[in-house]
Amino acid sequence: MGRLDGKVAIITGTAGGQGRAAAVLFAREGARVVGCDVGEGYYKDEEVTGASKQYRKWTAKSEKETVDLVQAEGGEMISMEPCDLTQPGQADELVDLAMTTYGRVDILYNNAAKGEFAWFEDMPHEQFWACMRQELDTVFLPTKAVWPQMVKQNKGSIINTASMSATKVFPALPCVAHMTVKSAVQGFTRHLAYEGSLHGIRVNSISPGLIASPSTGPLLDDTSWSDEMLVGHMIKRLGTPEDIAYAALFLASDESSWVTAANFPVDGGATSL
Ligand SMILES: NC(=O)c1ccc[n+]([C@@H]2O[C@H](COP(=O)([O-])OP(=O)(O)OC[C@H]3O[C@@H](n4cnc5c(N)ncnc54)[C@H](O)[C@@H]3O)[C@@H](O)[C@H]2O)c1
Repeated sequence: MGRLDGKVAIITGTAGGQGRAAAVLFAREGARVVGCDVGEGYYKDEEVTGASKQYRKWTAKSEKETVDLVQAEGGEMISMEPCDLTQPGQADELVDLAMTTYGRVDILYNNAAKGEFAWFEDMPHEQFWACMRQELDTVFLPTKAVWPQMVKQNKGSIINTASMSATKVFPALPCVAHMTVKSAVQGFTRHLAYEGSLHGIRVNSISPGLIASPSTGPLLDDTSWSDEMLVGHMIKRLGTPEDIAYAALFLASDESSWVTAANFPVDGGATSL
């Protein structure tokens, strides 16, 4: 028996990284997964081609690959691609896809995001707000779309993805916009947990440490950079997408039925060092 048997889980950003690992794990545990991703062409070449070969297995190519991986294991997954969650209406379409196919949504895992990284003095206002749209609207809009259905069900689990960067500064990471927005994700989570508690909906966040994924791949090519980042982690290895997926699995399942408004650092001890 799987830990998510019978549940319908929307996971955003499933073409690679943590979203792909969660899709595979959730389906293995019996969930029917509804994924989505931006599709080919959203990222500029220089944002993906630098990824080191070592981390290539996590590199997002296409959402279809994730569906194939899940189905090859006998799991159930459908997806929407292209889907840009910063665009109004796309999150509604995603929830409609889940509803017309499965008739309910038990889990919303807000994983998708694209950060913008620059030091404050080099960051134009527009780039700052792009970061807000790409990391906060991608949480707000899917949550807004799924909320009425979860209220109707009087049940649901929403998992938001924050970051160790909400609380910890790294001299090697120009993080002013990303830190601002991931702090906002933690605040959004706590407030929504209260509102959700009136309707049987739990809302929690996960704050990953440094994870080897498509988004960090280009940076990880520079081992002096990753070595410097790891100085700030108690456990001296990079996190994997699977490290995060296991925490999300707990929060998605009924094993965490008394857990809400919590933030789970899964960061090799980074935020306590
Ligand atoms: N990698 C890290 O070190 C790290 C650390 C802390 C937090 N995080 C957070 O973890 C989450 C997953 O990151 P990851 O490391 O797996 O990165 P990733 O870039 O591999 O995965 C994110 C996925 O989301 C998709 N996506 C981005 N914007 C989207 C949009 N507007 N609409 C639909 N899909 C979109 C991307 O195409 C990608 O496939 C993100 O929220 C990220 O901020 C990552």
